[in-house]
Amino acid sequence: MRSEIRVQPVFQRILYSQSWEDPLVDLAALEIGPQDDVLAIAASGDNVLGLLTANPRSMTGIDFSLTQICLVELKMAGFKALSYDELLGFLGVDPLTAAERRALYPRLRPHLSETARGYWDGEPGLIGRGVIHIGRFENYFRIFRSYVLPLVHDRGTINRFLALESLEEQRHFYDNIWNSAVWRGLFKVFFGKTLLGKLGRDPAFFKYVDVASVGATFLERARHCFCGIPVRSNAFAEYILRGNYASRDRLPLYLEERHFELLRDNVDRVRLVNDAIEGLLPDCDGAFSKFYLSDIFEWMSAEAYEELLRAFVKAGRPGGKMVYRNLLVPREHPSAVDDLLENDPARAAELLPTERSFVWGRLEIETIKG
Ligand SMILES: C[S@@+](CC[C@H](N)C(=O)[O-])C[C@H]1O[C@@H](n2cnc3c(N)ncnc32)[C@H](O)[C@@H]1O
Repeated sequence: MRSEIRVQPVFQRILYSQSWEDPLVDLAALEIGPQDDVLAIAASGDNVLGLLTANPRSMTGIDFSLTQICLVELKMAGFKALSYDELLGFLGVDPLTAAERRALYPRLRPHLSETARGYWDGEPGLIGRGVIHIGRFENYFRIFRSYVLPLVHDRGTINRFLALESLEEQRHFYDNIWNSAVWRGLFKVFFGKTLLGKLGRDPAFFKYVDVASVGATFLERARHCFCGIPVRSNAFAEYILRGNYASRDRLPLYLEERHFELLRDNVDRVRLVNDAIEGLLPDCDGAFSKFYLSDIFEWMSAEAYEELLRAFVKAGRPGGKMVYRNLLVPREHPSAVDDLLENDPARAAELLPTERSFVWGRLEIETIKG
């Protein structure tokens, strides 16, 4: 099995500097405990660390993009080398200057592999910006916030939305203040296939997408963010609209202060692997009990998806669980694997509407049969 997409040049740079998947959904779906050995897509590292808050026995983070692995290493080194307040400043949540961030970097450096050290030594500019802000995808949100959103709503209106206390207020606000024709029109163009493919993701990510209007699909999902998810606890919405996290009450899970000591103490349990997951699995019979898989199946054919599901079963244990998402491509439990995997659509239907990163279309939760 070979990964067909990893050769794209877009993976030479950091694509995701934060996670756009809600780890509370994955924690609820996977029910991770101290007996678990977890295999997780590494990406920005946020969810490797988010799932580590459940204290599994081991955590393997894997990504075929070396730059993503370097980013995860840097975040992990931040937990080991810095205090909580320093970490928030270094990563870019709190307002340090570029020089102050660069001055902290030598303390993280000894905790990095030679490869990651080589990468970050050569990127002082990225460190100065705060590394949660440097992904191509985060940059796309920055363009949205800087050039598109101001044409629709001013800062005061955005702040009013972010301060709303109830879903009833949110629905009223969306229908009467936010949801203008200009909002709908600009949103559909900006988050449509062409611009998003060129500037925020990569056109290759759309190879298997067959959706009439990508922009209209995301507009509908954005409506759910405004009307169906309490904004007071939605760090994803705050980052998209404001470009950072203004208070300690609305932070990504792995950056909440209550988890800092546990993560600092447990971060050594994380093993990072720079490979396609398809490459790792054949050597891992029975090695894992829980799998967090992002939406990796969207970037491969339906046949490769089914083949890979079988490889996960072999690398997993009876009773083990896996969770994955669909963004725009239907990758739903194929009946051909009914003898191997038990799908739980009821639990998925319960959890998906609570997903604070509202962009997702489907959630699949599977249990490996005995
Ligand atoms: C699947 S992507 C998230 C994509 C995002 N939701 C989107 O659709 O634009 C998350 C991470 O998975 C990694 N990835 C994707 N497919 C992989 C595979 N087969 N093996 C290892 N890593 C993979 C990517 O490099 C990326 O850092």
